Amino acid sequence: MKNFFFAIRNKITKSFYKLIFKKIFFIIDPEVVHDRIIKVGQFLGSNFLTREITKLFFYYSHKNLKQNILGIDFPNPIGLAGGFDKNAQITDILPSIGFGFMEVGSITGAPCEGNSKPRLWRLKKSRGLIVYYGLKNEGSEKLSNKLQKKSFKIPLGINIAKTNNKETVELEAGISDYQKAFKKFTEIGDYFTINISCPNAFGGQPFTNPAYLDVLLTRIDKILTKKPVFLKISPDLTEREIDKIIEISKKHHVNGFICTNLTKRRDNKNIVENNISEKGGISGKVISELSNNLISYIYKKTKRNFVIIGCGGVFTAEDAYIKIKAGASLVQLITGMIFEGPQLISTINQGLVKLLKKDGLNNISEAVGLSHK
Ligand SMILES: Cc1cc2nc3c(=O)[nH]c(=O)nc-3n(C[C@H](O)[C@H](O)[C@H](O)COP(=O)(O)O)c2cc1C
Repeated sequence: MKNFFFAIRNKITKSFYKLIFKKIFFIIDPEVVHDRIIKVGQFLGSNFLTREITKLFFYYSHKNLKQNILGIDFPNPIGLAGGFDKNAQITDILPSIGFGFMEVGSITGAPCEGNSKPRLWRLKKSRGLIVYYGLKNEGSEKLSNKLQKKSFKIPLGINIAKTNNKETVELEAGISDYQKAFKKFTEIGDYFTINISCPNAFGGQPFTNPAYLDVLLTRIDKILTKKPVFLKISPDLTEREIDKIIEISKKHHVNGFICTNLTKRRDNKNIVENNISEKGGISGKVISELSNNLISYIYKKTKRNFVIIGCGGVFTAEDAYIKIKAGASLVQLITGMIFEGPQLISTINQGLVKLLKKDGLNNISEAVGLSHK
């Protein structure tokens, strides 16, 4: 009966989203829509009543989805990926939407204006987004001050990247910038993400170079002693580069990998549109296969010694389940929610419960890596 109610509710909210809201959103500039949604989310999270009403429309929970990973209790495996809530404005409403965890940022040492506009485009046919924000955010000082007084209903990840300006391109300046940001957040949140894969920053992605990554992690090890640390990696790396990153990570305080960030490549067979912007990284369905392949590769290579968070092109429960069976313990998304609507989170979670039952499993953790057994 309970499941029937949630299925009907989600069908209705999905129809509303697709027939009304999405039609309006998709004729407005994507960054304007993003900013407005954040404002609405901030308002809905601001008081008990609006949080409870939001819950009625979107919330879903099930005991089979609960996991304890690296000492953190996750109510379900579906999280909000870094980049949607850049300035940590909607952390109060995300639990009511039904998310199992949330990541804020990327946050950088100094505040960042980001790249010049326009810097966000939709790929409607490919079901992806081209993102060229260039790490716009209010910076580590302001955001840590804002968050340190708060408590959170679901696990919170702090995603840190290098400030996007010319001054941080030189190796030592770049590392100091990461250090500055991490120091501000030692007592805030449940886990850290080191974003070494932003496709839109000055100086490229220097820390995919193993020697530089080694130096960066050596310096960060001393700061991030208390909480789990994830490295967020690019889908564009070669197996050789991935092997090196895994090798270096074993020597340091790295607990897992987020697979993956946006792709920079334009020769991806899933890009349907012609003449797309040369600037920016691409999300959504364009990267889902790359992400799944990388999850499988790292899972098989590291034999569960690292926790994997799968990210890229999750639009359905089946998409999330493929990532979990490939080796991801947790899954993150942004683009699926933009194309399908905010009810997607509970639709995915409800679908996962059904898929577990079909496979005769009692908990989501039993499905992790199942494709390789
Ligand atoms: C609008 C937007 C902004 C993003 N900004 C960031 C960011 O600041 N830091 C980061 O680590 N990833 C960022 N990402 C990448 C996402 O976290 C994620 O890795 C990628 O979008 C793949 O997931 P998806 O297909 O579910 O969107 C951004 C993605 C989008 C769509």
